[in-house]
Amino acid sequence: MRRSFTFLLFSLYAAFTFAQNPLFIPDTLSGTMFNLSVQNGTKVFYTGFTTNTYGYNGNFLGPTLLINKGDSITLNVTNNLPVTTTVHWHGFHVPAKYDGGPHQIIAPSTTWSPSFKMLNQASTFWYHPHGEMKTEVQVQRGLAGMIIVRDSAEASYTLPRKYKIDDFPLILQSKAFDILRQFKTGSHVDTALMVNGTLDPYLQVPKQVVRFRILNGSADRTYYLGLSDSSDFHLIATDGGLLSQPYTTKRLRLSIGERAEILIDFGTDTIGQQKYLMSYASELPHGIIGADSVGTSTIVIGDGYYSNPLNGSDFNIMRFDVIAPTASPITSIPTSFAPVIPIPESTATINREIHFSPDTAGPNGMDAFVEGAFFLNKKLFDMDSINEIVYLNDVEVWKLTNGTMVAHPFHIHDVEFNILDINGTPPPPQYQGLKDVMLVKPNDTVRFITRFSDFADDSVPYMYHCHLLHHEDEGMMGSFLVIDTTLSSVSEIELANNIQLFPNPTSGKIQLLSLNNKIKNASICNMMGERLFSLSINSKTSGLDLRALPEGIYFIQIETEQGIASKKIVLLK
Ligand code: C2O
Ligand code: CU
Ligand code: CU
Repeated sequence: MRRSFTFLLFSLYAAFTFAQNPLFIPDTLSGTMFNLSVQNGTKVFYTGFTTNTYGYNGNFLGPTLLINKGDSITLNVTNNLPVTTTVHWHGFHVPAKYDGGPHQIIAPSTTWSPSFKMLNQASTFWYHPHGEMKTEVQVQRGLAGMIIVRDSAEASYTLPRKYKIDDFPLILQSKAFDILRQFKTGSHVDTALMVNGTLDPYLQVPKQVVRFRILNGSADRTYYLGLSDSSDFHLIATDGGLLSQPYTTKRLRLSIGERAEILIDFGTDTIGQQKYLMSYASELPHGIIGADSVGTSTIVIGDGYYSNPLNGSDFNIMRFDVIAPTASPITSIPTSFAPVIPIPESTATINREIHFSPDTAGPNGMDAFVEGAFFLNKKLFDMDSINEIVYLNDVEVWKLTNGTMVAHPFHIHDVEFNILDINGTPPPPQYQGLKDVMLVKPNDTVRFITRFSDFADDSVPYMYHCHLLHHEDEGMMGSFLVIDTTLSSVSEIELANNIQLFPNPTSGKIQLLSLNNKIKNASICNMMGERLFSLSINSKTSGLDLRALPEGIYFIQIETEQGIASKKIVLLK
Protein backbone atom coordinates (compact mmCIF):
# COMPACT_ATOMS: atom_id res chain seq x y z
CA MET A 1 0.00 0.00 0.00
CA ARG A 2 2.66 2.44 1.04
CA ARG A 3 4.65 1.40 -1.94
CA SER A 4 2.01 2.19 -4.53
CA PHE A 5 1.21 5.47 -2.83
CA THR A 6 4.87 6.49 -3.00
CA PHE A 7 4.92 5.42 -6.59
CA LEU A 8 1.86 7.51 -7.41
CA LEU A 9 3.43 10.57 -5.84
CA PHE A 10 6.62 9.91 -7.71
CA SER A 11 4.81 9.56 -11.02
CA LEU A 12 3.04 12.86 -10.51
CA TYR A 13 6.30 14.48 -9.54
CA ALA A 14 8.05 13.02 -12.56
CA ALA A 15 5.32 14.10 -14.96
CA PHE A 16 5.36 17.56 -13.49
CA THR A 17 9.06 18.22 -13.47
CA PHE A 18 10.53 16.09 -16.19
CA ALA A 19 12.74 17.20 -19.05
CA GLN A 20 13.47 20.80 -18.33
CA ASN A 21 17.18 20.78 -18.83
CA PRO A 22 19.15 20.49 -22.06
CA LEU A 23 21.45 17.50 -21.82
CA PHE A 24 25.02 18.51 -21.00
CA ILE A 25 27.55 16.95 -23.38
CA PRO A 26 31.15 16.96 -22.10
CA ASP A 27 33.80 18.54 -24.32
CA THR A 28 36.50 16.35 -25.79
CA LEU A 29 40.27 16.13 -25.41
CA SER A 30 42.25 14.49 -28.17
CA GLY A 31 45.82 13.98 -29.34
CA THR A 32 48.48 11.99 -27.52
CA MET A 33 48.98 14.13 -24.41
CA PHE A 34 46.06 14.46 -22.04
CA ASN A 35 46.08 16.76 -19.02
CA LEU A 36 43.56 16.06 -16.32
CA SER A 37 43.16 18.08 -13.15
CA VAL A 38 41.18 16.43 -10.39
CA GLN A 39 39.49 19.27 -8.62
CA ASN A 40 36.83 20.54 -6.23
CA GLY A 41 33.88 22.38 -7.65
CA THR A 42 30.30 23.39 -7.08
CA LYS A 43 27.18 23.00 -9.16
CA VAL A 44 23.57 24.05 -8.83
CA PHE A 45 21.43 20.97 -9.39
CA TYR A 46 18.44 22.37 -7.51
CA THR A 47 17.51 26.04 -7.58
CA GLY A 48 18.68 27.78 -4.43
CA PHE A 49 21.20 25.10 -3.46
CA THR A 50 24.90 24.90 -4.23
CA THR A 51 26.20 21.34 -4.23
CA ASN A 52 29.87 20.61 -3.55
CA THR A 53 31.30 18.49 -6.33
CA TYR A 54 34.44 16.95 -7.79
CA GLY A 55 35.37 17.02 -11.44
CA TYR A 56 38.16 16.48 -13.95
CA ASN A 57 39.10 19.84 -15.53
CA GLY A 58 35.77 21.27 -14.38
CA ASN A 59 33.06 21.15 -11.79
CA PHE A 60 31.51 17.80 -12.53
CA LEU A 61 32.43 14.67 -14.52
CA GLY A 62 35.26 15.08 -17.02
CA PRO A 63 36.06 15.64 -20.67
CA THR A 64 35.53 12.80 -23.12
CA LEU A 65 38.95 11.52 -24.19
CA LEU A 66 39.29 10.65 -27.89
CA ILE A 67 42.16 8.21 -28.45
CA ASN A 68 43.33 6.43 -31.57
CA LYS A 69 44.35 2.79 -31.36
CA GLY A 70 48.09 2.43 -31.85
CA ASP A 71 48.95 5.86 -30.47
CA SER A 72 51.45 6.20 -27.66
CA ILE A 73 49.77 8.44 -25.18
CA THR A 74 50.62 10.18 -21.92
CA LEU A 75 48.05 11.23 -19.37
CA ASN A 76 49.14 13.81 -16.80
CA VAL A 77 46.78 13.57 -13.86
CA THR A 78 47.23 16.32 -11.29
CA ASN A 79 45.45 15.86 -7.99
CA ASN A 80 44.20 19.25 -6.83
CA LEU A 81 41.96 17.69 -4.18
CA PRO A 82 42.94 17.78 -0.51
CA VAL A 83 42.62 13.97 -0.43
CA THR A 84 44.32 11.14 -2.30
CA THR A 85 42.77 9.68 -5.41
CA THR A 86 43.64 7.34 -8.27
CA VAL A 87 42.46 7.29 -11.87
CA HIS A 88 41.67 3.95 -13.46
CA TRP A 89 41.28 3.55 -17.25
CA HIS A 90 38.40 1.12 -17.13
CA GLY A 91 38.72 -1.49 -19.86
CA PHE A 92 42.22 -0.57 -21.02
CA HIS A 93 44.88 -3.18 -21.61
CA VAL A 94 47.85 -1.41 -20.01
CA PRO A 95 50.78 -2.28 -17.71
CA ALA A 96 49.65 -2.80 -14.11
CA LYS A 97 51.61 0.19 -12.83
CA TYR A 98 49.66 2.48 -15.21
CA ASP A 99 46.27 0.91 -14.56
CA GLY A 100 45.23 3.36 -11.85
CA GLY A 101 44.04 0.77 -9.38
CA PRO A 102 44.18 1.26 -5.59
CA HIS A 103 47.98 0.94 -5.57
CA GLN A 104 48.68 3.89 -7.91
CA ILE A 105 47.86 6.55 -5.34
CA ILE A 106 48.05 10.19 -6.42
CA ALA A 107 48.79 12.32 -3.36
CA PRO A 108 47.36 15.85 -3.16
CA SER A 109 49.31 18.39 -5.26
CA THR A 110 51.15 15.73 -7.21
CA THR A 111 50.95 14.61 -10.83
CA TRP A 112 50.83 11.00 -12.01
CA SER A 113 51.84 10.50 -15.64
CA PRO A 114 51.14 7.05 -17.02
CA SER A 115 52.30 6.55 -20.55
CA PHE A 116 51.37 3.62 -22.76
CA LYS A 117 50.43 2.48 -26.21
CA MET A 118 46.73 2.26 -26.93
CA LEU A 119 46.19 -1.41 -27.68
CA ASN A 120 42.43 -1.75 -27.28
CA GLN A 121 40.31 -1.73 -30.38
CA ALA A 122 37.67 0.93 -30.98
CA SER A 123 35.05 1.02 -28.26
CA THR A 124 33.71 3.08 -25.38
CA PHE A 125 35.62 3.07 -22.12
CA TRP A 126 35.66 5.28 -19.06
CA TYR A 127 37.87 6.62 -16.32
CA HIS A 128 37.10 6.90 -12.65
CA PRO A 129 38.78 6.90 -9.23
CA HIS A 130 39.68 3.56 -7.63
CA GLY A 131 41.10 4.49 -4.20
CA GLU A 132 40.92 1.93 -1.45
CA MET A 133 37.49 2.38 0.20
CA LYS A 134 36.98 5.68 -1.61
CA THR A 135 35.59 4.75 -4.98
CA GLU A 136 31.92 5.28 -4.22
CA VAL A 137 32.25 8.64 -2.51
CA GLN A 138 34.52 10.06 -5.22
CA VAL A 139 32.51 8.75 -8.15
CA GLN A 140 29.25 9.92 -6.60
CA ARG A 141 30.68 13.39 -6.10
CA GLY A 142 31.39 13.69 -9.79
CA LEU A 143 34.56 11.86 -10.80
CA ALA A 144 33.90 9.94 -13.99
CA GLY A 145 34.55 10.54 -17.68
CA MET A 146 34.07 8.75 -20.95
CA ILE A 147 36.76 7.54 -23.34
CA ILE A 148 36.20 6.85 -27.02
CA VAL A 149 38.83 4.73 -28.74
CA ARG A 150 38.84 4.85 -32.52
CA ASP A 151 40.50 2.61 -35.08
CA SER A 152 40.49 1.95 -38.81
CA ALA A 153 38.38 -1.20 -38.55
CA GLU A 154 35.52 0.66 -36.89
CA ALA A 155 36.02 3.60 -39.26
CA SER A 156 35.44 1.32 -42.24
CA TYR A 157 31.75 0.94 -41.36
CA THR A 158 29.06 3.44 -42.20
CA LEU A 159 28.21 4.51 -38.67
CA PRO A 160 27.44 7.82 -37.01
CA ARG A 161 30.61 9.13 -35.37
CA LYS A 162 30.31 12.91 -35.26
CA TYR A 163 30.54 13.72 -31.57
CA LYS A 164 27.66 15.89 -30.30
CA ILE A 165 26.02 15.74 -33.75
CA ASP A 166 25.05 12.14 -34.38
CA ASP A 167 27.19 10.40 -31.74
CA PHE A 168 26.40 11.19 -28.10
CA PRO A 169 27.81 10.03 -24.77
CA LEU A 170 25.18 9.18 -22.15
CA ILE A 171 26.58 8.65 -18.66
CA LEU A 172 23.70 7.28 -16.57
CA GLN A 173 24.02 7.82 -12.84
CA SER A 174 21.63 7.69 -9.94
CA LYS A 175 22.56 9.92 -7.02
CA ALA A 176 21.43 10.67 -3.50
CA PHE A 177 21.18 14.20 -2.11
CA ASP A 178 20.73 15.16 1.52
CA ILE A 179 18.39 17.88 2.71
CA LEU A 180 20.96 20.58 1.88
CA ARG A 181 21.38 19.02 -1.57
CA GLN A 182 24.84 17.70 -0.90
CA PHE A 183 25.72 14.29 -2.29
CA LYS A 184 25.39 11.43 0.11
CA THR A 185 26.28 7.79 -0.26
CA GLY A 186 24.65 4.71 1.13
CA SER A 187 22.53 1.89 -0.12
CA HIS A 188 19.18 2.45 -1.82
CA VAL A 189 18.93 6.21 -1.28
CA ASP A 190 19.64 7.12 -4.91
CA THR A 191 16.41 8.79 -6.02
CA ALA A 192 17.90 11.41 -8.39
CA LEU A 193 18.65 10.23 -11.87
CA MET A 194 21.07 12.12 -14.07
CA VAL A 195 22.53 11.78 -17.53
CA ASN A 196 25.91 13.50 -18.02
CA GLY A 197 25.26 15.30 -14.73
CA THR A 198 21.93 16.70 -15.97
CA LEU A 199 18.73 16.10 -14.03
CA ASP A 200 15.55 15.77 -16.11
CA PRO A 201 17.38 16.06 -19.43
CA TYR A 202 16.21 16.39 -22.99
CA LEU A 203 18.26 16.19 -26.17
CA GLN A 204 17.47 17.34 -29.69
CA VAL A 205 18.21 14.49 -32.07
CA PRO A 206 18.32 14.71 -35.86
CA LYS A 207 15.78 12.73 -37.92
CA GLN A 208 18.24 9.97 -38.92
CA VAL A 209 20.29 7.17 -37.39
CA VAL A 210 21.93 8.39 -34.18
CA ARG A 211 24.53 6.61 -32.06
CA PHE A 212 24.49 6.67 -28.27
CA ARG A 213 27.38 5.47 -26.15
CA ILE A 214 25.73 4.54 -22.90
CA LEU A 215 27.72 4.03 -19.71
CA ASN A 216 26.17 2.92 -16.47
CA GLY A 217 28.28 5.01 -14.09
CA SER A 218 25.96 4.48 -11.12
CA ALA A 219 26.96 3.17 -7.72
CA ASP A 220 24.64 0.18 -7.55
CA ARG A 221 21.67 0.49 -9.93
CA THR A 222 21.08 -1.66 -13.01
CA TYR A 223 18.92 -0.25 -15.82
CA TYR A 224 16.68 -2.08 -18.26
CA LEU A 225 16.68 0.29 -21.20
CA GLY A 226 13.88 0.73 -23.70
CA LEU A 227 12.09 3.42 -25.71
CA SER A 228 8.73 4.81 -24.62
CA ASP A 229 7.14 4.30 -28.06
CA SER A 230 8.11 0.59 -27.98
CA SER A 231 10.29 1.01 -31.04
CA ASP A 232 13.34 -1.12 -31.69
CA PHE A 233 16.91 0.01 -31.29
CA HIS A 234 20.13 -1.66 -32.34
CA LEU A 235 22.97 -2.68 -30.05
CA ILE A 236 26.20 -2.48 -32.05
CA ALA A 237 28.95 -2.62 -29.44
CA THR A 238 29.51 -3.68 -25.85
CA ASP A 239 32.41 -3.05 -23.45
CA GLY A 240 35.27 -4.09 -25.72
CA GLY A 241 34.03 -3.27 -29.22
CA LEU A 242 31.64 -4.01 -32.04
CA LEU A 243 29.48 -7.14 -32.02
CA SER A 244 29.52 -9.50 -35.00
CA GLN A 245 26.28 -7.90 -36.10
CA PRO A 246 23.81 -5.39 -34.71
CA TYR A 247 21.37 -6.87 -32.23
CA THR A 248 17.91 -5.40 -32.72
CA THR A 249 15.91 -5.27 -29.53
CA LYS A 250 13.42 -3.33 -27.43
CA ARG A 251 15.19 -3.94 -24.12
CA LEU A 252 18.77 -3.85 -22.93
CA ARG A 253 20.06 -4.59 -19.45
CA LEU A 254 22.98 -2.40 -18.40
CA SER A 255 24.66 -3.02 -15.06
CA ILE A 256 27.27 -0.92 -13.31
CA GLY A 257 30.43 -0.27 -15.30
CA GLU A 258 29.05 -1.74 -18.52
CA ARG A 259 28.92 0.19 -21.79
CA ALA A 260 26.59 -0.26 -24.73
CA GLU A 261 26.66 1.54 -28.06
CA ILE A 262 23.23 1.65 -29.60
CA LEU A 263 21.80 3.07 -32.80
CA ILE A 264 18.33 4.60 -32.78
CA ASP A 265 16.74 5.31 -36.14
CA PHE A 266 14.74 8.53 -35.80
CA GLY A 267 14.33 8.61 -39.60
CA THR A 268 10.72 7.49 -39.57
CA ASP A 269 9.73 9.88 -36.77
CA THR A 270 8.16 13.23 -37.47
CA ILE A 271 9.97 16.43 -36.64
CA GLY A 272 8.81 17.63 -33.26
CA GLN A 273 8.10 14.13 -32.02
CA GLN A 274 9.18 13.33 -28.50
CA LYS A 275 10.03 10.00 -26.95
CA TYR A 276 11.76 8.86 -23.81
CA LEU A 277 14.66 6.61 -23.09
CA MET A 278 13.32 4.68 -20.12
CA SER A 279 14.34 2.05 -17.65
CA TYR A 280 11.74 -0.69 -17.47
CA ALA A 281 12.96 -1.76 -14.06
CA SER A 282 9.65 -3.46 -13.25
CA GLU A 283 10.71 -6.14 -15.75
CA LEU A 284 14.07 -6.86 -14.08
CA PRO A 285 14.19 -10.19 -12.26
CA HIS A 286 14.41 -10.30 -8.47
CA GLY A 287 17.86 -10.02 -7.04
CA ILE A 288 19.12 -7.23 -9.28
CA ILE A 289 19.43 -3.87 -7.54
CA GLY A 290 16.85 -1.69 -9.23
CA ALA A 291 14.26 -4.47 -9.49
CA ASP A 292 11.16 -4.71 -7.35
CA SER A 293 12.93 -7.06 -4.95
CA VAL A 294 16.54 -6.73 -3.95
CA GLY A 295 16.92 -10.34 -2.84
CA THR A 296 15.91 -13.51 -4.61
CA SER A 297 12.57 -13.58 -2.86
CA THR A 298 10.07 -10.86 -2.08
CA ILE A 299 10.68 -10.97 1.67
CA VAL A 300 11.62 -7.53 2.89
CA ILE A 301 15.39 -7.31 2.92
CA GLY A 302 17.33 -4.13 2.48
CA ASP A 303 16.70 -1.09 4.62
CA GLY A 304 15.04 1.62 2.61
CA TYR A 305 15.02 -0.39 -0.59
CA TYR A 306 11.27 -0.44 -0.96
CA SER A 307 10.74 3.24 -0.23
CA ASN A 308 13.02 4.23 -3.11
CA PRO A 309 10.53 5.07 -5.89
CA LEU A 310 12.94 4.02 -8.65
CA ASN A 311 13.13 0.41 -7.49
CA GLY A 312 10.86 -1.84 -9.48
CA SER A 313 9.32 1.09 -11.38
CA ASP A 314 9.46 2.05 -15.01
CA PHE A 315 10.90 5.54 -15.18
CA ASN A 316 12.10 8.11 -17.68
CA ILE A 317 15.83 8.58 -18.12
CA MET A 318 15.76 11.33 -20.75
CA ARG A 319 13.65 12.75 -23.56
CA PHE A 320 14.53 12.84 -27.25
CA ASP A 321 13.09 15.71 -29.34
CA VAL A 322 13.32 14.94 -33.04
CA ILE A 323 14.61 17.82 -35.19
CA ALA A 324 15.56 18.18 -38.87
CA PRO A 325 18.26 15.86 -40.20
CA THR A 326 21.89 16.98 -40.55
CA ALA A 327 23.63 17.60 -43.88
CA SER A 328 24.87 14.11 -44.73
CA PRO A 329 22.96 11.85 -42.40
CA ILE A 330 23.49 8.16 -41.78
CA THR A 331 20.18 6.58 -42.72
CA SER A 332 20.67 2.85 -42.38
CA ILE A 333 21.79 0.27 -39.88
CA PRO A 334 24.76 -1.86 -40.96
CA THR A 335 23.97 -5.54 -41.37
CA SER A 336 27.22 -6.96 -40.01
CA PHE A 337 30.66 -6.24 -38.62
CA ALA A 338 33.77 -8.39 -38.34
CA PRO A 339 32.95 -11.64 -36.54
CA VAL A 340 33.88 -11.77 -32.87
CA ILE A 341 35.62 -15.10 -32.47
CA PRO A 342 36.22 -16.24 -28.89
CA ILE A 343 39.50 -17.95 -28.02
CA PRO A 344 38.87 -21.71 -28.34
CA GLU A 345 38.34 -23.30 -24.95
CA SER A 346 40.72 -26.10 -25.91
CA THR A 347 43.62 -23.64 -25.70
CA ALA A 348 42.93 -22.81 -22.05
CA THR A 349 45.48 -24.19 -19.63
CA ILE A 350 44.07 -22.90 -16.36
CA ASN A 351 40.59 -23.02 -14.87
CA ARG A 352 39.96 -20.67 -12.00
CA GLU A 353 36.86 -20.26 -9.91
CA ILE A 354 35.78 -17.07 -8.16
CA HIS A 355 32.96 -17.74 -5.73
CA PHE A 356 30.85 -14.91 -4.28
CA SER A 357 29.60 -15.46 -0.76
CA PRO A 358 27.87 -13.36 1.88
CA ASP A 359 29.10 -12.55 5.35
CA THR A 360 26.36 -14.48 7.09
CA ALA A 361 27.87 -13.62 10.44
CA GLY A 362 27.06 -9.95 9.84
CA PRO A 363 25.19 -7.90 12.42
CA ASN A 364 21.97 -7.82 10.41
CA GLY A 365 21.42 -11.55 10.15
CA MET A 366 19.48 -12.24 6.95
CA ASP A 367 20.25 -8.77 5.68
CA ALA A 368 23.80 -9.91 5.27
CA PHE A 369 22.75 -11.97 2.27
CA VAL A 370 22.08 -8.84 0.28
CA GLU A 371 23.79 -6.06 2.20
CA GLY A 372 27.41 -7.19 2.30
CA ALA A 373 30.18 -7.38 3.06
CA PHE A 374 30.64 -9.92 0.33
CA PHE A 375 33.59 -12.21 -0.13
CA LEU A 376 35.41 -13.44 -3.20
CA ASN A 377 36.73 -16.92 -2.50
CA LYS A 378 36.06 -16.32 1.20
CA LYS A 379 38.40 -13.32 1.36
CA LEU A 380 38.04 -9.56 1.62
CA PHE A 381 40.37 -7.28 -0.30
CA ASP A 382 43.76 -6.65 1.27
CA MET A 383 46.04 -4.02 -0.25
CA ASP A 384 49.11 -6.00 0.77
CA SER A 385 48.29 -9.45 -0.46
CA ILE A 386 47.95 -11.13 -3.83
CA ASN A 387 45.00 -13.43 -4.41
CA GLU A 388 45.84 -15.02 -7.75
CA ILE A 389 48.95 -15.54 -9.84
CA VAL A 390 48.58 -15.68 -13.59
CA TYR A 391 51.32 -16.54 -16.10
CA LEU A 392 51.96 -14.28 -19.01
CA ASN A 393 50.29 -15.44 -22.24
CA ASP A 394 48.21 -18.08 -20.51
CA VAL A 395 44.67 -18.64 -21.72
CA GLU A 396 42.41 -19.09 -18.73
CA VAL A 397 38.78 -19.90 -18.10
CA TRP A 398 37.28 -18.15 -15.10
CA LYS A 399 34.15 -19.56 -13.57
CA LEU A 400 32.14 -17.08 -11.51
CA THR A 401 29.63 -18.54 -9.09
CA ASN A 402 27.27 -16.37 -7.09
CA GLY A 403 26.27 -17.84 -3.75
CA THR A 404 24.57 -14.66 -2.52
CA MET A 405 21.01 -13.42 -2.92
CA VAL A 406 21.91 -10.37 -4.98
CA ALA A 407 23.43 -9.89 -8.44
CA HIS A 408 27.01 -8.61 -8.65
CA PRO A 409 28.62 -7.01 -11.73
CA PHE A 410 32.03 -8.72 -11.92
CA HIS A 411 34.83 -6.70 -13.51
CA ILE A 412 38.41 -7.64 -14.28
CA HIS A 413 41.27 -5.29 -15.14
CA ASP A 414 43.95 -5.82 -17.82
CA VAL A 415 41.93 -8.09 -20.10
CA GLU A 416 38.71 -8.27 -22.06
CA PHE A 417 36.91 -11.59 -22.12
CA ASN A 418 34.44 -13.67 -24.09
CA ILE A 419 31.62 -15.27 -22.18
CA LEU A 420 31.58 -19.03 -22.80
CA ASP A 421 28.33 -19.80 -21.07
CA ILE A 422 25.82 -18.73 -18.47
CA ASN A 423 24.51 -21.71 -16.47
CA GLY A 424 25.82 -23.95 -19.21
CA THR A 425 24.03 -22.13 -22.03
CA PRO A 426 25.81 -20.02 -24.65
CA PRO A 427 25.38 -16.28 -24.03
CA PRO A 428 22.54 -14.30 -25.64
CA PRO A 429 23.50 -11.77 -28.38
CA GLN A 430 24.13 -8.92 -25.94
CA TYR A 431 26.91 -10.91 -24.29
CA GLN A 432 28.58 -12.34 -27.39
CA GLY A 433 31.01 -9.43 -27.81
CA LEU A 434 34.13 -8.55 -25.84
CA LYS A 435 33.29 -7.73 -22.24
CA ASP A 436 35.03 -6.48 -19.14
CA VAL A 437 32.02 -6.43 -16.80
CA MET A 438 29.42 -9.16 -16.41
CA LEU A 439 26.44 -9.18 -14.10
CA VAL A 440 26.22 -12.49 -12.28
CA LYS A 441 22.74 -13.12 -10.90
CA PRO A 442 22.10 -15.05 -7.67
CA ASN A 443 22.90 -18.75 -8.07
CA ASP A 444 24.26 -18.17 -11.58
CA THR A 445 27.46 -19.62 -12.98
CA VAL A 446 29.17 -17.56 -15.66
CA ARG A 447 32.30 -18.79 -17.43
CA PHE A 448 34.54 -16.55 -19.49
CA ILE A 449 37.76 -17.06 -21.40
CA THR A 450 40.65 -14.65 -21.83
CA ARG A 451 44.36 -14.45 -22.51
CA PHE A 452 46.72 -12.54 -20.24
CA SER A 453 49.13 -11.14 -22.78
CA ASP A 454 51.70 -8.36 -23.12
CA PHE A 455 52.17 -7.11 -19.57
CA ALA A 456 53.83 -8.82 -16.66
CA ASP A 457 54.93 -7.36 -13.36
CA ASP A 458 56.31 -9.25 -10.38
CA SER A 459 55.01 -6.83 -7.82
CA VAL A 460 52.18 -4.61 -9.09
CA PRO A 461 48.84 -6.39 -9.22
CA TYR A 462 45.70 -5.87 -11.27
CA MET A 463 42.25 -5.99 -9.67
CA TYR A 464 39.11 -8.00 -10.18
CA HIS A 465 36.04 -6.98 -8.25
CA CYS A 466 32.35 -6.35 -7.96
CA HIS A 467 31.66 -3.03 -9.69
CA LEU A 468 28.82 -2.22 -7.32
CA LEU A 469 30.77 0.60 -5.73
CA HIS A 470 30.02 0.00 -2.08
CA HIS A 471 30.63 -3.73 -2.46
CA GLU A 472 34.00 -2.91 -3.99
CA ASP A 473 34.79 -0.44 -1.20
CA GLU A 474 33.71 -2.98 1.42
CA GLY A 475 36.24 -5.44 0.07
CA MET A 476 34.56 -7.49 -2.66
CA MET A 477 37.76 -7.27 -4.65
CA GLY A 478 40.83 -9.39 -5.27
CA SER A 479 44.20 -8.89 -6.91
CA PHE A 480 46.23 -10.83 -9.39
CA LEU A 481 49.81 -10.65 -10.60
CA VAL A 482 50.70 -11.49 -14.16
CA ILE A 483 54.13 -13.09 -14.07
CA ASP A 484 56.57 -13.79 -16.83
CA THR A 485 58.43 -16.99 -16.05
CA THR A 486 60.74 -16.69 -19.01
CA LEU A 487 64.25 -15.37 -18.61
CA SER A 488 65.42 -12.07 -17.41
CA SER A 489 68.21 -11.63 -19.94
CA VAL A 490 68.40 -12.57 -23.60
CA SER A 491 71.94 -13.93 -23.48
CA GLU A 492 70.84 -16.58 -21.03
CA ILE A 493 68.01 -17.88 -23.13
CA GLU A 494 69.89 -20.43 -25.16
CA LEU A 495 71.50 -21.94 -22.14
CA ALA A 496 68.36 -22.02 -20.08
CA ASN A 497 66.31 -23.56 -22.83
CA ASN A 498 68.41 -26.61 -22.32
CA ILE A 499 67.53 -26.68 -18.66
CA GLN A 500 64.15 -27.85 -17.59
CA LEU A 501 62.59 -27.21 -14.27
CA PHE A 502 59.25 -28.68 -13.25
CA PRO A 503 56.69 -28.21 -12.02
CA ASN A 504 56.64 -24.42 -12.06
CA PRO A 505 54.71 -23.11 -10.19
CA THR A 506 55.55 -25.60 -7.51
CA SER A 507 54.27 -26.43 -4.10
CA GLY A 508 57.84 -27.17 -2.98
CA LYS A 509 59.48 -30.10 -4.71
CA ILE A 510 61.01 -29.38 -8.10
CA GLN A 511 63.10 -31.35 -10.51
CA LEU A 512 66.01 -29.90 -12.50
CA LEU A 513 67.09 -31.45 -15.77
CA SER A 514 69.89 -30.32 -18.04
CA LEU A 515 69.79 -31.65 -21.58
CA ASN A 516 73.41 -30.99 -22.50
CA ASN A 517 75.84 -30.37 -19.70
CA LYS A 518 76.08 -31.40 -16.11
CA ILE A 519 74.69 -28.93 -13.63
CA LYS A 520 77.50 -27.87 -11.35
CA ASN A 521 75.38 -26.16 -8.75
CA ALA A 522 72.09 -24.37 -8.14
CA SER A 523 71.28 -21.44 -5.87
CA ILE A 524 67.95 -20.10 -4.73
CA CYS A 525 67.58 -16.32 -4.44
CA ASN A 526 64.70 -14.22 -3.25
CA MET A 527 63.22 -11.31 -5.20
CA MET A 528 65.75 -8.91 -3.70
CA GLY A 529 68.53 -11.02 -5.19
CA GLU A 530 69.74 -12.36 -1.83
CA ARG A 531 71.06 -15.93 -2.02
CA LEU A 532 69.10 -18.16 0.36
CA PHE A 533 70.95 -21.41 -0.21
CA SER A 534 73.13 -23.23 -2.72
CA LEU A 535 73.51 -26.84 -3.61
CA SER A 536 76.34 -28.51 -5.48
CA ILE A 537 74.95 -31.05 -7.89
CA ASN A 538 77.44 -32.28 -10.48
CA SER A 539 74.98 -34.29 -12.52
CA LYS A 540 72.42 -33.72 -15.28
CA THR A 541 69.46 -33.98 -12.99
CA SER A 542 68.59 -33.22 -9.43
CA GLY A 543 65.68 -32.68 -7.09
CA LEU A 544 65.28 -29.51 -5.07
CA ASP A 545 63.12 -29.01 -2.01
CA LEU A 546 61.75 -25.52 -1.38
CA ARG A 547 59.07 -26.52 1.08
CA ALA A 548 60.72 -24.67 3.96
CA LEU A 549 60.42 -21.33 2.13
CA PRO A 550 57.37 -19.07 2.35
CA GLU A 551 55.07 -18.76 -0.64
CA GLY A 552 56.37 -16.29 -3.20
CA ILE A 553 58.56 -15.74 -6.21
CA TYR A 554 62.18 -16.93 -6.25
CA PHE A 555 64.98 -17.10 -8.74
CA ILE A 556 67.03 -20.18 -9.26
CA GLN A 557 70.55 -19.73 -10.60
CA ILE A 558 71.89 -22.77 -12.34
CA GLU A 559 75.53 -23.07 -13.20
CA THR A 560 76.77 -25.41 -15.93
CA GLU A 561 80.01 -25.45 -17.90
CA GLN A 562 78.37 -23.05 -20.36
CA GLY A 563 77.68 -20.40 -17.73
CA ILE A 564 74.98 -19.32 -15.32
CA ALA A 565 71.31 -19.12 -16.15
CA SER A 566 68.53 -17.93 -13.94
CA LYS A 567 64.90 -18.89 -13.96
CA LYS A 568 61.96 -17.66 -12.02
CA ILE A 569 60.13 -20.06 -9.74
CA VAL A 570 56.74 -19.49 -8.24
CA LEU A 571 56.18 -21.24 -4.93
CA LEU A 572 52.50 -21.66 -4.08
CA LYS A 573 51.32 -23.53 -1.02
CU1 C2O B 1 35.71 0.46 -13.42
CU2 C2O B 1 38.24 -1.66 -11.19
O1 C2O B 1 36.99 -0.54 -12.24
CU1 CU C 1 38.46 -1.46 -14.62
CU1 CU D 1 28.55 -6.85 -5.45
